[in-house]
Amino acid sequence: MSAVDEIKAKLDIVAYIQRTVPLKRAGRVYKAPCPFHNERTPSFVVNPDTQSWRCFGACAEGGDLFKFAMKQNGWSFREALEELGRMAGVEVRPQTPEQRDYEDANDRLRGMIKTAADFFHEHLLDTANSAAVRALKYTREKRALTDETIAKFQIGYAPASWDALLSTLTNMGYSENDLVLAGLVRRNEEGRVYDAFRSRLMIPIRDERGRMVGFGARALAAEDNPKYLNSPQSPIFDKSKLLFALNFAAPAIRESETVVIVEGYLDAIQAHQAGYGNIVAQMGTALTESQIKLVAPRWATKVVLALDSDAAGQNATRRSLEVARATLQADYAGRLGVEFRVLSVPDAKDPDDFIRENPQMWPQIVEAAIPVADFVIGMEADALNENPSIQEREAAVRRLLPILSASEDDLYRSSNLQKLAIRFKLQERDLLMWMSDQPQPTQAKAPRQPVDEPPPNFADGDPLVVLEPAAPKIRDIVPSETDMEAYCLRALFTQPDAYYAINRKLRELAAQLPGGSKAALDDFSTEDFSRTAYRVLMQNFEDALAQDEIEFVEYLRQNLDDSLLNELDAIMLDQHEAYALRVGQRLPGDLAASIKASERQQMLLDINAELVEMALRLRERRLSRERQELAYLEIEGENAVALQELAMSSLHAKRLIDMEISRQLHAWQYSNAAKRSQ
Ligand code: UTP
Ligand code: MN
Repeated sequence: MSAVDEIKAKLDIVAYIQRTVPLKRAGRVYKAPCPFHNERTPSFVVNPDTQSWRCFGACAEGGDLFKFAMKQNGWSFREALEELGRMAGVEVRPQTPEQRDYEDANDRLRGMIKTAADFFHEHLLDTANSAAVRALKYTREKRALTDETIAKFQIGYAPASWDALLSTLTNMGYSENDLVLAGLVRRNEEGRVYDAFRSRLMIPIRDERGRMVGFGARALAAEDNPKYLNSPQSPIFDKSKLLFALNFAAPAIRESETVVIVEGYLDAIQAHQAGYGNIVAQMGTALTESQIKLVAPRWATKVVLALDSDAAGQNATRRSLEVARATLQADYAGRLGVEFRVLSVPDAKDPDDFIRENPQMWPQIVEAAIPVADFVIGMEADALNENPSIQEREAAVRRLLPILSASEDDLYRSSNLQKLAIRFKLQERDLLMWMSDQPQPTQAKAPRQPVDEPPPNFADGDPLVVLEPAAPKIRDIVPSETDMEAYCLRALFTQPDAYYAINRKLRELAAQLPGGSKAALDDFSTEDFSRTAYRVLMQNFEDALAQDEIEFVEYLRQNLDDSLLNELDAIMLDQHEAYALRVGQRLPGDLAASIKASERQQMLLDINAELVEMALRLRERRLSRERQELAYLEIEGENAVALQELAMSSLHAKRLIDMEISRQLHAWQYSNAAKRSQ
């Protein structure tokens, strides 16, 4: 049994979901208001028989235990596997004894940090200690933190002692070596050990899963240096791979698909206290690519850098932007539609001060963040004197080009080149030439499967499928749903008229459906797509086609926002993949080899037939999805007859599609065989 099966066998889906969602029994299933969208009447169903869940409401989505855990927590599959595995007591990957020892040692260190945090927190609240009372007063009054916030972030106070923590923890049985390793205690040259943090406000730093891994410790006296003392690098603490407050921010980041990255601990804490949850702190150092990858593109499509406006901040800004550039070049943003923006807090304040003074203005500030490109252009332009020579302008532009041309995204690139040319009064032609002087960016990575949409789970059980005759097995290699969806969009946007060919075929088939409900074979539409972004693109496609005010392409240019343009761009760029998909799946093995180049050409011209077929396949999947939902609804006993009719017509439609696809395939093979024998 695989780890996944074992976990599913051990964790009952009802019990698991019930921990966070108030499920009520309804016949053979359980229901509740959907946890993924706002509603009062329950449309969220958990079925213990099939161990699956589904939302019939706005989400119209469902899946198994893993999909639920991934969706709820924003976990990758790997993370879900590890977390659920831990919960179920299932070894997810065979560990060597060394690996296990290493993990155990790290767990021990994290446990120790947590114990220390408890110790510091208790001390902050110790009314008998006058220094602690002053620290608490500072926290409440100077920093304006509420008791609730102090408790949530478990802020503490390290007493003015050389051994308070040391003696407490060693008495509890922690080893001196572990204390040193985790940076709680230092050892001097004579080998004597002493507390590393003294007379400081202690801010625990947690990893993404909320486990405490270190501290940021703020000096309370002005003469104390440094202002912040942080835990040293250790097996559990790597500042460059952590974002402060990410554990608290994750839900809001997912919800808004936006993350705001501030510099300081207290900036983030203040924002959370004011109710702005999508904020994390990079903890002073320049942003790293690992930090970006913690949040984008997996949760956020927009990364807003809120950087200090003081001089040091400007340097950090440059370095952070350098990283953003590297990340762009590694081709995150170009294809996956991550947008970087820069936010400036007015009056040279940091976000902490600003939010305390104008909490309700914060969203406007975030909204007003400007694209990285505009920001760096502005920075370079501002640095020039009043009448810069052409050499100075060229030098500035050459500094900017690597940042601005890093993206794979042609639209992004050309619009930035235009801006540059205008701003620095140079010829776009020259810019293009200088750009080609640059070392070429490394080859873009192959686009990944969109992270937010795991492949559809067909193990969910399709209760009506058992009634069906076995579908004719047409092909061995069926491309993934996402590939097919991208394929269809690409074809449609390339030649919009193909849309009518699809609908002609659907109507032709619909005519063969008996009786009233022909909805199963209505026009090709957004519902045939499962990825959200693709649905929106399809909607825009339909709208563009439906209007006749302006040209199709111009309409799109005006109506698609940047992220959708990026998405579309990614789809259009994958010509090569499209080709492979078409050729590869058409031609299993030896057949492929025997096809001559001219025939391949012919095949590419035959895009309409291909597209129609692909669209029919998508429709089939949609019908299957809908039948699953119907089957669950029937249990509720409402409109049983009408629903039964819907289900029957859906099945009928499926058979018509199957026949049509196999007919097309035979016709195609026929014509090929005929060509070869000529
Ligand atoms: P700032 O100096 O901007 O601090 O450093 P701040 O957050 O506004 O602090 P307050 O408001 O004066 O308390 C920003 C971040 O840089 C890191 C910390 O993570 C801090 O939150 N930093 C700063 C250090 O690690 N060490 C330092 O000595 C200073
Ligand atoms: Mn500050």
